[in-house]
Amino acid sequence: MRFETERPASWQTCLACGHEMTETDPHPRCRSCGGLLEIRHRAPDLTPAELLRRFTERRGHGSGATASGVWRFREVVLPSAETVISHPEGNTPLLHRPSLDRWTGAGNLLLKHEGHNPTGSFKDRGMTVGVTQARRIGATAVACASTGNTSASLAAYASQAGMAALVLVPAEGIALGKLAQSLAYGARTLLVRGDFDDCLRLAEEASAKLGVYLLNSINPFRLEGQKTIVLELLQQLFWQAPDWIVLPAGNLGNTSAFGKALREAREWGLISSMPRLAAVQAAGAAPFARSFDEGFTRRHTVKADTVATAIRIGDPASYDRAVRAIRETDGVVLTADDAELLDAKAAVDASGVGCEPASAASVAGVRQLIRRGLMDPAQQAVAVLTGHILKDPGILLRYHRETEPRPAGANRPVEIDATLGSIEAVLRAATPVSP
Ligand code: F0G
Repeated sequence: MRFETERPASWQTCLACGHEMTETDPHPRCRSCGGLLEIRHRAPDLTPAELLRRFTERRGHGSGATASGVWRFREVVLPSAETVISHPEGNTPLLHRPSLDRWTGAGNLLLKHEGHNPTGSFKDRGMTVGVTQARRIGATAVACASTGNTSASLAAYASQAGMAALVLVPAEGIALGKLAQSLAYGARTLLVRGDFDDCLRLAEEASAKLGVYLLNSINPFRLEGQKTIVLELLQQLFWQAPDWIVLPAGNLGNTSAFGKALREAREWGLISSMPRLAAVQAAGAAPFARSFDEGFTRRHTVKADTVATAIRIGDPASYDRAVRAIRETDGVVLTADDAELLDAKAAVDASGVGCEPASAASVAGVRQLIRRGLMDPAQQAVAVLTGHILKDPGILLRYHRETEPRPAGANRPVEIDATLGSIEAVLRAATPVSP
């Protein structure tokens, strides 16, 4: 439908054909052409200074939805939401570790650690909005396909909202922590004999036929929540935009959300310069990088294969939105192979920060930007760490305990008899550990 009278606070627009739908239409795609939807908001009726003052006042608030690092920005996320399902989430730290400056070659690399969210990944920021929207439209059951983090987050928020949750994950290759979370929070968990791309196809079909509300990042409300990663990091930098924002890319929901956040922040006067986005794919799951290298003249799909199971995706759903995000931010798309990802992860882990394998793509990406001369070391970069170190304990234990030959950074545990002498023997044999 097209609105004839005054615009409501928010509505949905199809990126492909321009068709408009109400904010409460539960259809996951455009009803006219099946294209991807985007939420549009009427420009806030506050001046930029007033808006920023509100965001500042709410920061550090102790309770209720205002304590959330998502709902703090509600005027530009979902202004008409009244009752929200919030953990709360967000309020993640912006960290600096000199060892990672040395490792990447950057002068002052900041890490936005989204692993500090309630279920250990950035997905909670999108899920609080997605499940809030599900409640608003009267859904009683929600579903998603996932490589593991979306399902963990959906399971937690659905349980908080009292809704049934159905999650579809690849039977092989979901990280242990993520599967455990989905089971623990009570989601009906289907281990699909196939990959993520099969799961997503099936989840879309099931939601259309079985009437459950789809909460993959195809759902545009999820992206409204994920925009707040960017808004919050800009707020932490006192609204002085960094030169680069670097993030891992799989299904391309986050890349799209970041582009939208930056576009709106510029349009609404919250920032005066546009950071460049660098989206980093695993080399074995890099259809978007391939399209970027060809000037986005063709969309590609691949059979994905990488140790970073979170981004083992061969047919990214948010392709069209992400192309726009890269174009509008003069962005780049890079790839990092599994060895680079694991090296970057080892560097992040050894700095005391820690992250899951896919998250390290952003730090590997910063190193590449510097080495390829795309980024000057004096420029400011923020690398987003998307998930917590304990999401994938299997890969950690393999790396430290089992891999032969022993990787340079392996920290082998030592089994001993229960005697002081055994400890002394270990200490005598130990080579000094460098900080
Ligand atoms: N990092 C982590 C830790 C993820 O879990 C994901 C995606 C990404 C990066 C990539 O983000 O898909 O928006 O480009 N995980 C999804 C899931 C696919 O099901 O949990 P994206």
